Amino acid sequence: MGFPIVRNRRLRTSAAMRNLVREHAVTANDLIYPIFVTHGTNVKEEISSMPGVYHLSLDRLEEEIREVVSLGIQAVLLFGVPHEKDAHGSSAYDPNGIVQQATRQVKAWAPDLLVVADTCLCQFTDHGHCGVVHYDEAKGRADVLNDPSLELLVKTAVSQAEAGADIIAPSNMMDGFVYAIRQGLDEAGYENVPIMSYSVKYASAFYGPFRDAAHSAPQFGDRKTYQMDPANAREALREADSDVAEGADFLMVKPALAYMDVLRMLRDRYDLPLVAYNVSAEYSMVKAAAAQGWIDERAIVLETMLGFKRAGADLIITYFAKDIVRWLQA
Ligand code: PBG
Repeated sequence: MGFPIVRNRRLRTSAAMRNLVREHAVTANDLIYPIFVTHGTNVKEEISSMPGVYHLSLDRLEEEIREVVSLGIQAVLLFGVPHEKDAHGSSAYDPNGIVQQATRQVKAWAPDLLVVADTCLCQFTDHGHCGVVHYDEAKGRADVLNDPSLELLVKTAVSQAEAGADIIAPSNMMDGFVYAIRQGLDEAGYENVPIMSYSVKYASAFYGPFRDAAHSAPQFGDRKTYQMDPANAREALREADSDVAEGADFLMVKPALAYMDVLRMLRDRYDLPLVAYNVSAEYSMVKAAAAQGWIDERAIVLETMLGFKRAGADLIITYFAKDIVRWLQA
């Protein structure tokens, strides 16, 4: 018998053969497109570290929404960039806050497009932390208080649901946030609004461009007492376990690129829809290299998305969403 008997190349002999045996694909249905909304009129300001991503005032949002719908994207993730900030992030739960206003607008223009609301306080607090800050004289340092923060996050989530948000996506990493928000939503009559929990969110340098974009960098200290240590993987299972027990409807891993192992671990352990967040620096790095002519942007992005799917993601939040759909249609 001649060697080799096993010839794996047999299944790669033509495009049709490769199409037949392809295991994973990315479609428009898998993508969630993040949008930054802000006050004012006629604002369409490109974020310098994220070419192609803009701050949009409400009057410029409609054209963006029409484009997203025409591409067949099913969901947008709204981030607010408010003018007013205070210690308690009250513009996050103001019924006329920027996210609430934008949500109402989007639902009026495109009732079938799903609005995912990011539920956090950091863009809305003057100190830039995701919860209530207390200065502890004895310890000589500031702490982010867990339980008082939950109350504000619940108010934020309920006000977002009232405005018409279809999915609540809490990204604050306080303990018990899924349970608290689930209870709050249920009591307010939003028992059918799902929670897409940022279950496993690392304290990551990959959020740098986002913090510039959303003006949400912490004014002192860092987020390491609530976001996870990049060195840990088993701890991700504990974070996800508690979210599942508290009633999360989707689980998320964030960032995505450097955490593909965590995506795979969660995929193997849970049956819930799993979301990968392809974060801001993952976008900026590709854009910067592509602008230099060093990489083929389209090929790099599509390959990365396949990587997320292969690692077990069902859904991908990505600033490339519109480009990806255009590339897939071409
Ligand atoms: C808010 C939030 C952040 C991101 C999404 N929601 C920033 C952070 O935690 O500092 C980052 C998204 C990105 O980098 O694209 N908590």
